[in-house]
This record gives sequence, C-alpha cells and structure tokens, in this order.
Amino acid sequence: MRWLRHRYQPCSPLGKDGRRVSGSAEHIELSRQAAAEGMVLLKNKNSILPLENGKRIVLLGKASEEYIKGGGGSGDVTVSYVRNFYDGLKIKESENKVQVYNGLHNFYADYVRRQHEEGKEPAMTVEPELSREQWVSAACFSDTAVICLCRFSGEGWDRRCALEKEFSMDGCETWEGEDALRKMGRQVFPKGDFYLSEEEENLIRTSEKYFKHRIILLNIGGIMDSSWFYEDDSIEAVLLAWQGGMEGGLAAADILCADVNPSGKLTDTFAKRLEDYPSTEGFHDSSFYVEYKEDIYVGYRYFETIPGKRERVNYPFGYGLSYTKFDIRVLQEEILQDRFICYVSVKNTGSISGKEVIQLYYSAPAGRLGKPAKELAAFEKTKLLMPCKEEVVKLEFPLEQMASYDDTGKICKSAYIMEKGQYHFYIGTSVEDVEELKTVYYLKEDWVTERLAERLKPRKLSKRMLADGSYETLECSEYEEIKRPAVFEHPSELEGIAPEVRYEKRQTLQERFYPKYKELADVAQGGISMEEFIEGLNTEELVWLLGGQPCTGVANTFGIGNNKKHGIPSVMTADGPAGLRILPECGIYTTAWPCATMLACTWNRELVRKVGAAGAKEVKENNIGIWLTPGMNIHRSPLCGRNFEYYSEDPVVAGEIGAAMVQGIQSQNIAATPKHFAANNKETNRKHSDSRLSERAAREIYLKGFEIVVKKADPWMIMTSYNMINGTYASENKELLSDILRGEWGFHGTVTTDWWTRAEHYREVKAGNDIKMANGYPEQLLENLEQGRLNILEVKQCAKRVLELILKLE
Ligand code: BGC
Repeated sequence: MRWLRHRYQPCSPLGKDGRRVSGSAEHIELSRQAAAEGMVLLKNKNSILPLENGKRIVLLGKASEEYIKGGGGSGDVTVSYVRNFYDGLKIKESENKVQVYNGLHNFYADYVRRQHEEGKEPAMTVEPELSREQWVSAACFSDTAVICLCRFSGEGWDRRCALEKEFSMDGCETWEGEDALRKMGRQVFPKGDFYLSEEEENLIRTSEKYFKHRIILLNIGGIMDSSWFYEDDSIEAVLLAWQGGMEGGLAAADILCADVNPSGKLTDTFAKRLEDYPSTEGFHDSSFYVEYKEDIYVGYRYFETIPGKRERVNYPFGYGLSYTKFDIRVLQEEILQDRFICYVSVKNTGSISGKEVIQLYYSAPAGRLGKPAKELAAFEKTKLLMPCKEEVVKLEFPLEQMASYDDTGKICKSAYIMEKGQYHFYIGTSVEDVEELKTVYYLKEDWVTERLAERLKPRKLSKRMLADGSYETLECSEYEEIKRPAVFEHPSELEGIAPEVRYEKRQTLQERFYPKYKELADVAQGGISMEEFIEGLNTEELVWLLGGQPCTGVANTFGIGNNKKHGIPSVMTADGPAGLRILPECGIYTTAWPCATMLACTWNRELVRKVGAAGAKEVKENNIGIWLTPGMNIHRSPLCGRNFEYYSEDPVVAGEIGAAMVQGIQSQNIAATPKHFAANNKETNRKHSDSRLSERAAREIYLKGFEIVVKKADPWMIMTSYNMINGTYASENKELLSDILRGEWGFHGTVTTDWWTRAEHYREVKAGNDIKMANGYPEQLLENLEQGRLNILEVKQCAKRVLELILKLE
C-alpha cells in the first residue's frame, strides 16, 4: 500500500534527521564524484597533468566562467548553484594546490553575464577577443594556460555541422552541410559547434605565442572536432570534461590537481572529421526521413571494419588515459556451459591510485551475413587500486550474444545465427588497444540461436552497407499512407491542450462520494483481482485512464491515474535524465548529475546505480512517482542535438549502463522510463521524421540497448519515441510494442508515448502503447470503440497495465 502516498502528496523530507535529500550536500558530493569519474583524459604529453603542486595557471576562454552543466530542454535541471572551472580551481587554490590568475576573471564573467542579459543562450555566446595587454599580463603570471571551451545543445534541434539556416516542420533550425552548400554555390557561414568557431581558433592560435604549455578543458555534451589538438604537438593535454552537472567545474579541478586520477573511457569514437562518420552524409537530406544506410556499421563497428576507416580515428571507442599504469594479464579463459569466461589480473604499477576498465571484444566470422570486425561483449571496472595493488576481474558473456540477425534470408530468415567458422576474443583497454586471447571458438555448422519473425521491415530504405564498405540493395515495398483525420494533418492544433482543460470537462462525469464502488486499494489488499476491479470501471473511466492527467504539486509533465471514485491516485511524472526537473518558479532545487554520456564514460555500473537511487529519492521526496529517464538512444551521429542525454554509440554500453540506472531508480520504488523507444536519433522535425532502417540494424543496434535493459532491469515503464520507424509511428507500432517488446523480450511494464505525439490515440492503444501523454483523447477512443475500430479488450489491457504500474510505486 506504499503507493497510497500518491493520494496525499506528503511534504516529508526523506533525509536523515528530517533533512531534505533533494539537492542535499550528500547528493551533490555524489554528483561531483560521478563527474570526476566520467571525465576522459584524451591527451597528456610530457605528463603535464596532474599539475605540479602550487603550479601557476592562467584560465583562458569564456568557458572558464560559462560552465554548461548539461543540455537544454526537458533534460535541464533547476539547481541552487553551478560551479564553473574558475570556481573549481579557486577552491584548489585555497588548498594551496594551484595559483590561478585573476586578471581575466572579471573580464570573462562580465562578458558572459552581459551576453546572457542580451538574450544569448548559454554557450551560444561568441568567444571574446583579448587585448594585447591582457595577453601580456596573463603570460607574465605563468607559462601555462588552461584553455576552456564549451558547447550547448538541446531538445528539438540538431547541432550545426555548418552553415546555413533553414526551417523545419518543428520550427527548428536545420543546417545544410558545408560541402553541399559550396556545391550549390551558396554562402558558407562561420564555423562553430562541431568545429571550432573562428574566434576560438583565434584564441588557440594566439595562446601559442604567449604560453609554453597549454591544457584544454572541453565542457561539451557530444563529440566535437578533435583534430586540432590531436595533430598539434604544442597542445600537451586535453581533458574531456563533458557537461558535468552542478559540480562539473570542481570535478575537473579534482582531476587537474590529482585529487582524482582520471578513469573515464570514451563511449564513442572520435574521428578526424565530421564527414568521416557515415551518418553525416544524408543527415540533413530531408527533414521528413533519415536513411540508416550504414546499417549495423555504427561507431567503432564502422571504423574497425570498413577498409581504410581505422586511420580516420583520432581517439577510439573505449579509450582514456590515466595518471598511473596498469599491468593487465589474462589468468584464465574458458568456455563453460555456453559462456565465455575469463579472469584478468589488473595491477597498478604506477605511483598513484587509479581504476582501470577492462574490455572484452569478440570477432565473429564474416560468413554470409557480414560482421563488424570487433564487437564489445563485456566490460568490468576495477575498484580504486593503490600502487602495487592488484585485482582480478571476471568478464563473461553467453556465446549466443555473438549471433547476428538474418533479416533477408541469406541463411535462415528472421533468425539469430552464429555462422560457422572461428570466433576470436580480445582483452584490452580500448577497441584498438587489445590483445587477442588464446581461445578460439570454432563452429563447424551454422547455429540458429533464436528463431523470430519478420518485424519492422524497411519499406523505403534503398540500400545498406556491407562489411567491405559496398552496399546491397534492399527489396522495398511501397506502402499506403494512412489517411488521418484533418486534425492530425494540422498537428499544431493538438499541442498544448493541457490535461487540465480536458479534466474540467470530465468533472461532470464524476460524483462526489462513491461509497459503493470498489477501490484500487481492494486490489492491493487482495480483496479482489485486478480483472474484477477493471470490470467495475465503466467505459468512460477506462478510456480516461489511458491519457495524461493534470499536474499537481511541483510536477510539470503531468500525471497518470486520477480517478477519485475508484481510489486511483494521480501519480505525477517528471524529467530526467540529468536530475529531477522542477521548474524554477517552484523554488525547489534538486541535484544536477553529470550528463548521461558522461555517466556512461565512467563504465561504472555501481556508481551509476547509486546515482539512480539518489535521483529517485529526490523524485519521491517531491511526490513524483515516475521518472522519465534514462535516455537510451544510440549516438548514431554526432549531430543529434540530444546525444548528451544518451549513453553511447554501442548498445552493450548503453544497455548495461541503462540497466544499472534503472536498478538504482527502482530500488526506491520509483518507476524508471527508458526512452525514446526507438530509433530517435535526430531531433529536427522529430515528430514526423521517418527513421528508415533494416530489421537487422534495428535489432542489433537500435533496439539492443533497450532489450538489455528490459531483460536485466525490468523497467516499469518505457517511453516510445515521436518518430516513425519504417513508415509507422513508434507509438502506433504493434510489431515494436506487442511483438518485440512484450512478446519476444517479456516486458511486462507499461508503455507511454512521448509527450504530445502526432500519432492517433486509438492506433496507439491497438499497438499496445498503454498511455498517451501528456494528454489522451478519450472522445476519440470512445468514437473508435463505437465504430468497432477499437476493441474494449484492447482498452482494458492498457488500463490494467496503467493500474499495475501505480501499485508498484511508493
Ligand atoms: C521529450 C521527453 C520528455 C517529455 C516530457 C518530450 O518533449 O522528448 O524526453 O520526457 O518531453 O518533458
């Protein structure tokens, strides 16, 4: 009966001694730890880092003051403060660890403040120029500069690759590729975002004249160009500090001063140029569709496999430096009951404590289906190892994980198959830095590990990439566009009809006292079954349960449930992923955690579990039951505006880290909501865009992370995405929701739409999408029931799952 608290919304602090946990010192400290552990040291020539004790440094760049704690949109968090790089290093100065030049502090701080007052978005400000006097005075203080750069992106728009604005259906800006524009003879605008802006280039160029040593701090939420420092020997160190939440500036200072030894590893490949990612070509071809022509060759699967592409990588997947060294030895490897198992000893042979991430990869025979040259199978992170200390980590995975999906029937249609031939295994500390193991697994015959049925067949994907970089054509079937009622052709009319407005209409349907009716509590107490309870709800009550309900308390993303007559509480939802999001006007501060990509770069499940549990406590304390996190989409392209909310280019990392997050959240009896299911890898026109991909790419890449989360962590809710998948809206997609998610993976939670989808409510119900947020269309459901397009059993099924979710909460 713990769920009953949602009826009363108690304002009780959940911390020790009656203190609030939301935004508490303890949570903020955890946020700082997670941030320090997710930072990736990309470069450290001459071991310039950590800074010598008492080192004098000059902070250059407006980003020393303008710290971006996370991305924008629903993933933003209202916090009591944000510590920038300058603040963080000044704390270290007070501990006598560094000496920070103050001469530019006011200049940058005032500049940033003025720009924001003029209405510039964070990090959309232009890098200011320094005068000669400023350069000279700074250089007199120290020969070492720490150059800070930041980037911002958010929901509903994609990042700029260059360079000319257009408007999409969402009213958001899109940008044409530079080459395309040049070919068209069009003007090319200044650089920025993925690349350095001209002003930043100028800062970096000029800094070389004045400073012997230069260290770069990157406060970014997604991949940016790395060639300018990778290729420049005079830039000695680069710390990928990500968007580290409210204590990101201090966490970076922890690393610079060796209070924390970096142990973060990339969860994405940093290639030489944007054009090196196969997803770049065609990203902006249309705002109405994206063709996933690179198929399963996403991220390192592409760079490792396609001939000639490995040379295009600056920093590989899994890579990250440490201040210490580790000796890695494989102690034992075996195949036992269809599992590959190995024990690896990791010994710290340096002079400072540190952690290491051990990665296990496999390569399957190319066979007839074609395979990535390497795929991540498992990973483990050591605990903090003191110098000379050793830990043995165990890595294991089921052999079946190496199967590939045959979607066109080259061997056995619609099945996962391990092709005959040799399977090799590798242990290492990045996808490139690996050692092959002795064990070779040999299959004499093809092994069909799982037979499934054809789902999500592509209908308009003309071709897909093969392992040699060539393409095969796919058989495509044209399909009939669904005729939708006029209101759905003009979707803006649907947006923003708040549940409050609909709820008012509904008041007339309800009486005030209902003594004779069964209550949800009767189900919870075992007095009646859920089925009996549902039989006691009339059709109107049932359809009302399938849509969002008005906000109460501090919620701003609406709720579910809300039927007083039957004692169904109104349970609120809130965003995620970077923290519990409450609007500033509520006057409540919560903890801003590091952005999702950064959490993944910790490769530390236990830490992520702790973050999940701490975040969920804040959710509960604020009387919210459903947290709209984690974001599970794949980093298909560096240009996706929401990559900061997602974990990785690799589904195993995304799935494992996502599962840890869900376990942490649900340990507090708060529902986690992995989102956006699925193939939501572009923000421009996201409510209409059609993601065109093969069934194999869907299953092996874009759905795989969700599959791992469902199977490992049993999330109580899943959020479908706005986009279409091969011509069908994700939320209307029966194959996705009923056949794959529930049928194949055994998901028994509740499915919600993303907020204000353009899909039709009754089709969503039919597909098994239980609840339409932020607001349902009960009238439409009733009409469709009457006309026989919708069946009452379908409605009851969804209602049941909504109610079951409520009973799981606290
Ligand atoms: C976003 C979701 C978010 C929801 C509620 C949508 O626009 O895509 O990620 O959870 O809004 O704020």
